[in-house]
Amino acid sequence: MASVASNFTRASFKQLRPLKIKASSKTFVRSTAVVGLTSAALATYYYNNDNNNKKSNGNAAKALFGFGGASGLNAAQVSSKAQDEYQEIYNAIAKKLQDEDEYDYGSYGPVLVRLAWHSSGTYDTNDKTGGSYGGTMRFAPESTDDANNGLEIARKFLDEFKVKYDWISYGDLWTLGGVCAVQELGGPKVKWRAGRVDQDASKCPPNGKLPDASRDAPYVRNLFARMGMTERETVALIGAHCLGGCHADRSGYKGPWTFSPTVFTNDFYKLILEDKWQVKKWDGPKQYEDVKTKSLMMLPADIALTEDSSFKKICVEYANDQDLFFKDFSAAFQKLLESGISYTKSTKEFVFKTLDEQE
Ligand code: HEM
Repeated sequence: MASVASNFTRASFKQLRPLKIKASSKTFVRSTAVVGLTSAALATYYYNNDNNNKKSNGNAAKALFGFGGASGLNAAQVSSKAQDEYQEIYNAIAKKLQDEDEYDYGSYGPVLVRLAWHSSGTYDTNDKTGGSYGGTMRFAPESTDDANNGLEIARKFLDEFKVKYDWISYGDLWTLGGVCAVQELGGPKVKWRAGRVDQDASKCPPNGKLPDASRDAPYVRNLFARMGMTERETVALIGAHCLGGCHADRSGYKGPWTFSPTVFTNDFYKLILEDKWQVKKWDGPKQYEDVKTKSLMMLPADIALTEDSSFKKICVEYANDQDLFFKDFSAAFQKLLESGISYTKSTKEFVFKTLDEQE
């Protein structure tokens, strides 16, 4: 395997901003961090964007069931016309992602993915609590859980769509935002189902259900098993750390995982396996930095994936085969976002077109 880092010049991540270059009727977006890269490395940075919205038909989801029951919270029934209506919201989110490119590394996409994950990852298979169904992160104590620091930015980003499309639930909007961000940042298609129903603050999961980044492999395995995830799904999901980065004022940790934090790739696995990592000397919590450039980071819970032989084996598979990672991530992410929700057989799975595909 060729080293990922060797393809890159050392980049200042403060300067990362997408550039839009018009080429043969497609808008290509890339990060300024790619300046000076080889053409092979550059290719991994490009992803296409374009826009074509459709008209909304109004009411889409009606709750036909109550919730509760042994198998999970019942998804509301969604009308057969709904795919167009949800595609319209998808397009609106995607367009805003494209337009508001001054944030962080140049995209709100990573923080939208984190919102979708944190609203879902509280699911507990033991008592069937938590999960994305009720959109309960609007309320304390879930909104004030330290693990959710910074996610008010993602919720605020999406709020205007809750106003414009007032029939969509928060749970559906936040998970749709995550799917949109993964796809628009060049990741796999993720099947998505509607039907989450807003619940009140009494349904907030207790704090402490989301992973502690300072922990080891057995902890990570147990925590994801609590959510109902297999080892393979656990490793695939954590590969989302190809996107975005850590912010000292949110988690205490600092820096991006990859050189292309706004492009969905398998670089997380390549870097964690192929680069050398050392404990960063700084006035902050224990985290790792790459020896070569000292500009990338890994959390102790990321490094844990390489310290456990069965986790590591899966990392190697994903480092060698991006298509396999995309396929497994897509299935695991859908499962995560649907944790604790029961669908009837008639509930359709929607696969949304990217803006680029609709040009
Ligand atoms: C052991 C499991 C995990 C741990 C300990 C962990 C921990 C963290 C931490 C500490 C941050 C930095 C937050 C900040 O300071 O802004 C972060 C960011 C992020 N995480 Fe995770 N995470 C885990 C799993 C996941 C999973 C399963 C996903 C998605 C499927 C995910 C997606 C993200 C994304 C996209 C970001 C970047 C957010 C941004 O740039 O604003 N993480 N994670």
